Formats: sequence, structure tokens, C-alpha cells
Amino acid sequence: MDLTLKIWRQKGPQDKGSLVDYKVKDISEHMSFLEMMDVLNEQLVNSGDEPVAFDHDCREGICGMCSLYINGEAHGPDREITTCQLHMRTFKDGDTIYIEPWRATAFPIIKDLVVDRMAMERIQQAGAYVSVNTSGNTQDANAIPISKHAADEAMDAAACIGCGACIATCKNSSAMLFVGAKVAQFALLPQGQVEATDRVLNMVHQMDLEGFGNCTNIGACEVECPKGISLENIARLNREYLKASVKG
Ligand code: SF4
Ligand code: FES
Repeated sequence: MDLTLKIWRQKGPQDKGSLVDYKVKDISEHMSFLEMMDVLNEQLVNSGDEPVAFDHDCREGICGMCSLYINGEAHGPDREITTCQLHMRTFKDGDTIYIEPWRATAFPIIKDLVVDRMAMERIQQAGAYVSVNTSGNTQDANAIPISKHAADEAMDAAACIGCGACIATCKNSSAMLFVGAKVAQFALLPQGQVEATDRVLNMVHQMDLEGFGNCTNIGACEVECPKGISLENIARLNREYLKASVKG
């Protein structure tokens, strides 16, 4: 396949940035999208140009690093996959592909397609953990009964890889699906009850401090989430927040 790529180039946080056209030739349909980007970068390096900066790590849908807006959709046109799992067979010879970074006030651009997602880390640091008794009499986790239903729901919420596609997709740049998944994961399990009140209050407080918008129930986040995180988690977040606010 021969393709035209329109890629967001921006030298640094203060640079204005713009879309720049590139041509790539003989791209195999079996390549992943990131391999196609590698081909382009090799081409640029060979001609003495600056390669395009983009985030990636595991390249198997686990780490949440690959964060590209492709043809106006977070992680591209396919459903429930990350950018690194997107294959070039999704495109046709002669296609023009627009490649842009995540856009949100809380995600400042560092360079080209790389954005700073530390805001999400700070929300996690505010409460997405459990205290573990390490004094030598720790209870075996397997000895704590958990219903199958709660275990399944907690596991589904824990599938969130913190990629930020939900935020980039939301017209309000809301982080509610991400925070909902993190809160629900612990709220459903007995191990998560010790910090339950502080967790939800602190995480929501941090989310507001970081400049994420509010949820207006559009549901685009759920559609674009590569891990199929359900809107149910936002409902659970709201319930947990209300419960914690009443408690104090
Ligand atoms: S909820 Fe989905 S889209 Fe949002 S950060 Fe988690 S995995 Fe990514
Ligand atoms: S590079 Fe790790 S999820 Fe895509």
C-alpha cells in the first residue's frame, strides 16, 4: 500500500505545531500501525530529518502507552484494541491517514504525538491502592470469600490500562471512566474497604485539580475504550462518592 500521512508535528510544548504531509510506500497489510510509523521514521532518519516522536512500549495492548488519534478516533477505527494492535489491513492503498496526539487541557503536548499524562498518575497516587499488613500475620488473600459476581466485575474494571483514550475522546475531557474503573476495582472487593471513603474523595478531588471536565453522559468514552470499560463504572463512582460524602 502507498499512503499519505498527515501527522501533527510540534517541536515542543510552546511550539504552535501543524499537520505535515508524508508519503510511505510498499506498506504491508500485515504490519501493525506502529510498524508503519517505524518505516516512516526510518525513512526520515535516512534522509537526515527528525523522526516523529510517539509513545509506545509493550506493543501488545497492555501498557497503555500508545496514544494516537487516528482519522479522528482514539486508537483508530477498530473497536476494543489499542493503537499497537491496529493493523494496516484496516486501511486501503491510496488512503490518507490523519495522525494526531490526545487532545485535552490536562494532557499538554511534549513533542509531536507525545503528551504528558502524569495527571492520570497523580489521580492514581491519590487513592488507587490498598494498605497491606506486612507485620507477619498477613491474611492469605485466598482466605477472604468474594462472590463470583463481585470478582468478575472487579476484574472487568481492573482491565483499564490507563491509556487516556476516554479522556481524549470526551468533548469535556472528562476522566470519569478512568477514575470510575479505578474506584470500582477496589470498591467491589473486601480488601478495598479500608480506604474506601478516602480513596474516592481524594481521587475525585485530584481529578478536579488536574483540570479534567465533567461527565455529561455522552458515552463516547465507552465506545473508544480499548478495554471495553463499561459506563457502569461511572455510575458506581457516583454512588461511592455520594456514600463517602455523607460519611464525611
Ligand atoms: S477507561 Fe479505557 S480508555 Fe480510559 S484509560 Fe482506562 S482503558 Fe483507557
Ligand atoms: S504499546 Fe503498550 S498498549 Fe500499545
